[in-house]
Amino acid sequence: MLTIKKIKGLEILDSRGNPTVATFIELSSGVKASALVPSGASTGRHEAFELRDGGKRYQGLGVRQAIKNIENEIAKTIVNKKIDDLIDLDYTLCSLDGTVNKQRLGANAILGVSMAYARACAYHYRQPLFAFLRQVYGYNYKIRIPIPMMNILNGGKHADNGLSIQEFMIVPKQHTFAERLRAGAEIYHVLKKILKTKKLSTGLGDEGGFAPRLLNSEVALQLLVQAIKMSKYKLGKDIFLALDVAASEFFDGKNYNFENKKTSIEKLINIYKKWIDKYSLLAIEDGLAEDDWLGWQKLTKELGAKTLLVGDDLFVTNQERLQQGIDQKVANAILIKLNQIGTVTETMQTVIAAQKNNYKIIISHRSGETTDDFIADLAVAVSADYIKSGAPARSERLAKYNRLLKIEHAK
Ligand code: PGA
Ligand code: ZN
Repeated sequence: MLTIKKIKGLEILDSRGNPTVATFIELSSGVKASALVPSGASTGRHEAFELRDGGKRYQGLGVRQAIKNIENEIAKTIVNKKIDDLIDLDYTLCSLDGTVNKQRLGANAILGVSMAYARACAYHYRQPLFAFLRQVYGYNYKIRIPIPMMNILNGGKHADNGLSIQEFMIVPKQHTFAERLRAGAEIYHVLKKILKTKKLSTGLGDEGGFAPRLLNSEVALQLLVQAIKMSKYKLGKDIFLALDVAASEFFDGKNYNFENKKTSIEKLINIYKKWIDKYSLLAIEDGLAEDDWLGWQKLTKELGAKTLLVGDDLFVTNQERLQQGIDQKVANAILIKLNQIGTVTETMQTVIAAQKNNYKIIISHRSGETTDDFIADLAVAVSADYIKSGAPARSERLAKYNRLLKIEHAK
């Protein structure tokens, strides 16, 4: 039982220059820890509620109310009070909020407290965060370092280059994480050279990938293939490709407007089918919209044996939505984002349920990030299959990859 002596919040800026929540906790033992909360742009409709102030400051994106909630209501409930453990703290925070989607206190306020307490406890027990999390949630799988899915070409809501697909990722499958990161970085730099030679923009999107204006998504895939070949790696052997289609963004409630053309579900599935073989697609995330359950059933039936079909906006790290997916035989992998659900414990419960039902686990950053590397430890704690932390460039993306290097090195 570790009592909290003090808790503070601070409005800081994320990688996009928008406000986000920092939380500082001091335990009665004197141990101090902090946590920084990420923020998405192509957020799912069913995500937990991110509390923003509205009004004129920061185009309405201020988080002063979330900070107030941490320092007033939350502090009153948990400072100098009996807390059994992290699970107890998270249940207390959820019931204090009292709403289904944390809209009263804000998921950004609640998550900051949950993460900072987890980290403070790990420090207190002198354990790496991943080891502490394993202990709390009873994990005893063999420790392994996840395979990175690196978003090196950005489109959709993370860029303004007109591409329908949001993320074009490379998946280096080398033996060690250090080799995977090296391959990713080498390919990233070769891609930059190719873009320069073709007189295309080498400006970056939100997740550190390039964001050139291209004719269509297939051209983006071809550029990735070229960069892999020129870097002397083998597509389909050392390196695979993956897409985050983020299809909710081009679904208008009735039709999919893919590459500015009305496209039927059958046609979309056929495009994916062709690309899986042609471009060694290891995963397709959010290939259809977040509430298109019937479409997802078709997609899973047709392509589920060939590739990973990842639910992000579809599942929003929510155990109930995952259960609906399990019942309806939808998807075979889940994206896990702490701030989609709002506490460490609920995140872990969703991961555990997914693993029981043989869904692959991909721990993920958000497009708006900070230098907090919590998700690297989370990925190791649950023996995740993959981690998505953007391109191998820009410090908020590298914080996670570099933390994984350290964990691997210390093993
Ligand atoms: P977001 O994008 O953080 O903007 O939601 C990431 C993703 O869709 O995977
Ligand atoms: Zn996504």
